[in-house]
Amino acid sequence: MSNALESSAVIGVIGAGTMGAGVAQVAAAAGHPVMLYDTSHSAIDKGLSNMRKGLDRQIARGRMDAGQRDRLLAKIQPAKQIEQVADARLVIEAIVEDLATKQSLFRQLESLCGNQTILASNTSSLSITAIGAALARPQNLVGMHFFNPAPVMKLVEVISGIATRPEVAACIFDTASAWGKRPVHARSSPGFIVNRVARPFYAEALRMLEEGMADCATLDAILRDAGGFRMGPFELMDLIGHDVNYAVTCSVFDAFYHDPRFLPSLRQEELVAAGRLGRKSGQGFFAYGEGAEPPTPRDEAPRPAPESILTSADLGPAQPLLERWRLAGITIERTEDGDECIHVGTARITMSDGRSATRRAADDSHDDTILFDLALDYADARRIALCAADQASPAALPQAIGLFQAAGMSVSVVDDGPGLPLLRSVCMLANEAADAVLQRVCDPAAADTAMCSGVNYPLGPLAWADRIGPARVLQVIEHLQQAYGLDRYRPSLLLRRKVESGQLFHRSD
Ligand code: NAI
Repeated sequence: MSNALESSAVIGVIGAGTMGAGVAQVAAAAGHPVMLYDTSHSAIDKGLSNMRKGLDRQIARGRMDAGQRDRLLAKIQPAKQIEQVADARLVIEAIVEDLATKQSLFRQLESLCGNQTILASNTSSLSITAIGAALARPQNLVGMHFFNPAPVMKLVEVISGIATRPEVAACIFDTASAWGKRPVHARSSPGFIVNRVARPFYAEALRMLEEGMADCATLDAILRDAGGFRMGPFELMDLIGHDVNYAVTCSVFDAFYHDPRFLPSLRQEELVAAGRLGRKSGQGFFAYGEGAEPPTPRDEAPRPAPESILTSADLGPAQPLLERWRLAGITIERTEDGDECIHVGTARITMSDGRSATRRAADDSHDDTILFDLALDYADARRIALCAADQASPAALPQAIGLFQAAGMSVSVVDDGPGLPLLRSVCMLANEAADAVLQRVCDPAAADTAMCSGVNYPLGPLAWADRIGPARVLQVIEHLQQAYGLDRYRPSLLLRRKVESGQLFHRSD
């Protein structure tokens, strides 16, 4: 049974900026009468006029007609006084991100509205528990965290503070569903789900850049073309703005008492200090504006394809590559070895396990060791990252490059290091999601839904861990931890438990 608010229920929205206007539009589109209030009357006018422009674009694309636009806009009433939201069943706040200001607004709303009114905050970083601490009825307060642009992005994180009544969270969850959103429940904790679990997407990329593994354009291309991410980490940080992205990282880092897992990057801090905030300032990792060169990833020049390869019967997740090589006319001979290796000439090519190629070559006493990276789907990945051991002879790498190019992939060679770019990013995302689940911030389904619907990940981090196997993910993280000696690469206890029990994060039954 749905506990959603009826569409006749009045919704109050406080703050008519980027988020408030978007949320008002979503509620009105679902049929609710909406009262939109802002301390700045011009902000309401601007919010409504931006909304109209957005709806006009929808009309131009044939997604709605003028009648629908007018009916939607007619549902939103600008409120001159905050008292006009008194009859609302739900008031959603999207004002400035400041604890004291939000607390004082909610205290005022409590005095205006009835006992039954649900008060919701769209805060992206403040604790719902802390906001509620100032209220007489914290049980009626819940986080309702929309993503920008609110009319487009499906995810809504429904955040319960320590005092939030479960019925209140359930009502907001069902109401968000009725509004066409994909809600997830989360417990109030730093970064909630998305802003916490996404940290390694930026942090690992920044670390690899700082260690000279590859340049920004190449790392972006690997995450996009091999990983299926819509944007690479550097272009995404440039889009979000480094001031905002860095501030979120610092706030999560501070809130977790400086857990090294969330350590901010000096490279990003430098960009902020220089005012290179990304697209909005014309320069971030990349340059924007007239005459700016588009980012160019490093692609290897074509190399000849080998005539034949010798491979172990099982290549693990990379098994679909065999079909691509077969179609390219390469003769495939099998060995009985169970080591997931491909041999081309003297080169031994294998998937990264989190050790550097140099370390792997030393461990296995095989100088000509070449590692390849993870791919979301090896059957149709357009790019692959490779690295060679320092001990490898000059002939080894070109043979591997030719092999992957024969499968129709662009090849980006990166400097050797522990874990290749996509693999270590995905494993760290999964590790963080596992810890959020362990700490009861959310369940595994919510973690994955949040990352797919809130930040467009191609696959939830936990589903991805299930796909390549939790044991492989744990191995990569343990190898990163050994290589760096840092607590940052501390495996989640839940990940260990999955490996020990042989279970997956998402039950297959
Ligand atoms: P914004 O700056 O575009 O809009 C804030 C509006 O609130 C302004 O129009 C301002 O006049 C009004 N305001 C400030 N204090 C007020 C008060 N005491 N009473 C009534 N109105 C007041 O800000 P934006 O980006 O819309 O963010 C609003 C909230 O949503 C913040 O808590 C932010 O953390 C959160 N958020 C922002 C996202 C984003 O991408 N911009 C995404 C998700 C959440």
